[in-house]
Amino acid sequence: MCGIVGYIGNREAFPILVKGLKRLEYRGYDSAGVALISEGNNLNVYKTKGKVADLEAYCADKDITGSVGIAHTRWATHGEPSSVNAHPHYSESKNLAIIHNGIIENYADLKKKLQENGVVFRSDTDTEVLVQLVEYIQNKKEVDLLTAVQVALHQVIGAYAVALLDKNNPRQIIAARKQSPLVVGIGENEFFLGSDASPIVEYTDKVVYLEDGNIAVMAPGEELKVVDVFNEKQNAEVKKVNLNLGQIEKGGYPHFMLKEIFEQPECLKTCMLGRINSEGSHVTLSAVLDYRKQLISAKRIIIVACGTSWHAGLIGKQMIENLCRIPVEVEYASEFRYRNPVVGTGDVVIAISQSGETADTLAAVKLAKEKGAFIYGICNAVGSSIPRATDTGSYIHVGPEIGVASTKAFTGQVTVLTMLALALGNVMGTVSHDDYISIVKGLQAIPDKIREVLKLNERIADLSRTFTYARNFLYLGRGFSYPVALEGALKLKEISYIHAEGYPAAEMKHGPIALIDSDMPVVVIATHNDLYEKVLSNIQEIKARKGRVIALVSKGDDTISKLADEVIELPDTLECLEPLIATIPLQLMAYHVAVCKGKDVDQPRNLAKSVTVE
Ligand code: AGP
Ligand code: GLU
Repeated sequence: MCGIVGYIGNREAFPILVKGLKRLEYRGYDSAGVALISEGNNLNVYKTKGKVADLEAYCADKDITGSVGIAHTRWATHGEPSSVNAHPHYSESKNLAIIHNGIIENYADLKKKLQENGVVFRSDTDTEVLVQLVEYIQNKKEVDLLTAVQVALHQVIGAYAVALLDKNNPRQIIAARKQSPLVVGIGENEFFLGSDASPIVEYTDKVVYLEDGNIAVMAPGEELKVVDVFNEKQNAEVKKVNLNLGQIEKGGYPHFMLKEIFEQPECLKTCMLGRINSEGSHVTLSAVLDYRKQLISAKRIIIVACGTSWHAGLIGKQMIENLCRIPVEVEYASEFRYRNPVVGTGDVVIAISQSGETADTLAAVKLAKEKGAFIYGICNAVGSSIPRATDTGSYIHVGPEIGVASTKAFTGQVTVLTMLALALGNVMGTVSHDDYISIVKGLQAIPDKIREVLKLNERIADLSRTFTYARNFLYLGRGFSYPVALEGALKLKEISYIHAEGYPAAEMKHGPIALIDSDMPVVVIATHNDLYEKVLSNIQEIKARKGRVIALVSKGDDTISKLADEVIELPDTLECLEPLIATIPLQLMAYHVAVCKGKDVDQPRNLAKSVTVE
């Protein structure tokens, strides 16, 4: 969520900061700002509601000199999105400036106390409280910025990644983190700062991922200093980051989302690389080899996740229960963390998260760990907070996902969950040899089948155009296709703002059928499997009420073709692998409907890529 960039060295900071903010745009934000210590040692803050391009325009006639600066994209939590509430925030004297990602939970208390002591505030944000507190401590105790930050953070409850500039100490940036991610890039006599590595990678591949509680002092000519609030020196391991820039640019596609949809065959191949052997006869996951004992002795598995990752979890549940015969529960991480769940030793908790930074999922992981469960992470962002908090796990390795609507991460998660169920089922002896081999081979063939589905892009674009009038959509599926229906509905509502619901097809008659009339598009996943006849009856029920059916069918199906208004034919695969195929046209349909409606596909309103606040 929202982004932090910082630079200190000998180059002009402004272009680096703006470029960095652009690299972080994918995270979703409502305003942007920058603070620079100018050549004349002024601390200049410029900020505006809107996009980074608006900030650039706003700065066109301003003094943007200086080789020290911090910049921010905000996703408002406290105080409406506005230029005043945008970051950076000055302290009262304007000697300090701060940027912050996260939430200061006890800001109201702190603000009251500071106001009682005469401090005057300019914004409605929780963030301003922190910079005012730091300055208050600086003045009261006559201490330097680092000490004041340490004392202030002692009093703060909440989640934060912050960076501060001090006009009176112009050759340093101080940054600190708790729960929100922060990365320091190390160059020659210069430092970079980012909420992830994407604004840094074009300058250096040497980075330090700050840990919770770390405070970093960046001063060119000196080594990076990392301490905690007690001023104890902390370990700052320099890592090599191998994110290449081509990976985070659009590669010729009009939107990241379309690029990411089209990347899926390659991404899933990478995801299976080194895990499925070339003959397609065996799956190896190092986590299953290393933690075999803990995994096979699981009394039950609890999957925790949010949004799209939660949908992947629903598919994982069916897969693991079928192949491993271990009971699996799937929980919204946000609910799990607050309801005193029955979880403990002997339970395995699987946390699924693309970003690895989702606050609710991270909190669920910490809670389950405290209670003694064994934690397995399935994440995309390498080195992010969730993988660092788990006992073991498997990365999905689909590369950075920039579009706010998750696409390739979903299929990557389902692929890893399938490999996990296969590997575990195999060591437990709960899956027959024949089933094991046919699913492994089936999985191996998925990338080519997705390629086949992607050829339908033009047809799906045409079809989507005819449905932009709709205000509601229903998505139906059964068994493995039910989570696909949920995911299809989520994709559509996220980026086209059309209200959409996913249901198990048989539930339609218990309520949603009341919505059906000649304006209502209903997407039905009706491929050839054990429940085909039942789904066919559902389609008849919809047509009897004049609903408009868009059916996803198996190649060659001529029964449903006669009934449905639109038909999308999918290549055959095993029933348990169908989600990997059937999701693709639904992603494309959501994309094209949103494009036709002129929506901001990659950064839909009100949404953030990684939800690092509750
Ligand atoms: C997906 O399209 C969404 N934007 C959202 O539901 C997302 O899946 C959710 O916020 C979880 O994110 P994570 O996978 O990074 O934890
Ligand atoms: N809580 C802060 C605000 O509302 C920071 C939000 C963010 O993470 O961008 O300004």
